[in-house]
Amino acid sequence: MARRKTSAPLIPFKVTGTGSFLPSKTLTNDDLAQFLDTSDEWIRTRTGIRLRHVLGKEEIPAQMGIEAAKRALSRAGKTSAEVDLLLVATNVPEEPIPGTAPHIAAGLSLRKAPFADLTAGCAGFVYALALAGAWLQVGLARTALVVGTEALSRFVDWEDRATCVLFGDGAGAVVLERKSGESGILGVALRGDPTKLHLLRIEAGGVRLPASCATVQAKKHFLQMEGKGLFRAAVGMMAEATRAAAAQAGIPLAAIDWVIPHQANLRIIEALVKRLRIPAEKVVVNIDRVANTSTASIPIALDELVQEGKVEAGQILALTAFGAGACYGTVILRW
Ligand code: UT7
Repeated sequence: MARRKTSAPLIPFKVTGTGSFLPSKTLTNDDLAQFLDTSDEWIRTRTGIRLRHVLGKEEIPAQMGIEAAKRALSRAGKTSAEVDLLLVATNVPEEPIPGTAPHIAAGLSLRKAPFADLTAGCAGFVYALALAGAWLQVGLARTALVVGTEALSRFVDWEDRATCVLFGDGAGAVVLERKSGESGILGVALRGDPTKLHLLRIEAGGVRLPASCATVQAKKHFLQMEGKGLFRAAVGMMAEATRAAAAQAGIPLAAIDWVIPHQANLRIIEALVKRLRIPAEKVVVNIDRVANTSTASIPIALDELVQEGKVEAGQILALTAFGAGACYGTVILRW
């Protein structure tokens, strides 16, 4: 596809490496039907999911983010010593204190770089990407590593068929380098609607409702979701943010080469692209193989697209997500 001549990026940088990691253990829909009142037919037709990857009991969640980050750094030709910012998007931290970023920083042997977690539901990766880009732009760093990593298999109730069939574990990472030129963020619309914060939550385990025998017995440490409410809100939120980001970028939606939506439900993705009138061949879908990996879903899909050699310099990508909070948003990137 031809390189487009539009104005300079709002936030200039280059993505020089991408990486992802999925645990080796997989669960098919038929595997789930062995112990749940569900079926492959229900899960496939309602969600598009066939398979999900889940961490084994002995596996360490942060290791997924470490592996994804190492792959991204190696493809960028960078050592971890050159990283001067690590942002980790995740919903459930490795441990309440100090979170996940220090564990990933330790696994990468970072020494002086600042690192922090960012929680913005499944939109965490797009939030972190925009923030890291802005960090580079103001000169606080030259090379940033942005990781999305999630192990929700540890926080779903495996007796609740309405939630556990939807999620998978995994991690994705990108390396951003400060560079003037035509690549970087062209438009960004990050949003939140706190009137919808009840739609997706884990109620206990924080300071409002610390862990106790009662919270464990009441299953309040598991993910609770109002699926229908989220479904209804998701399409409108991502469509609005994508239109706003494209308007800021000064491009028509037709100029977008690739849409990488959060992989929550194939029907949500299909409704979104129908509403935006974006042709299906421009939309990246891997939910059938990985399910909903939350903050990891966009960087995993992006990495797959890049490894398949499908992304060319100058192309325009729209990354759009929604999730708990309800945080949502779209970043439009020129590659
Ligand atoms: O990352 C963001 C987080 N999550 C989401 O974005 C999820 C958004 N929501 C969704 O994807 C959909 O709402 C779901 C896939 C969660 C549910 O699909 P739905 O078409 O909204 O189904 P429903 O909740 O209305 O349930 C329909 C029926 C119910 O049975 P009755 O009441 O009609 O008898 C459910 O009990 O399907 C039943 N059901 C299941 N049946 C078989 C719910 N889960 C299952 C299941 N297998 N796994």
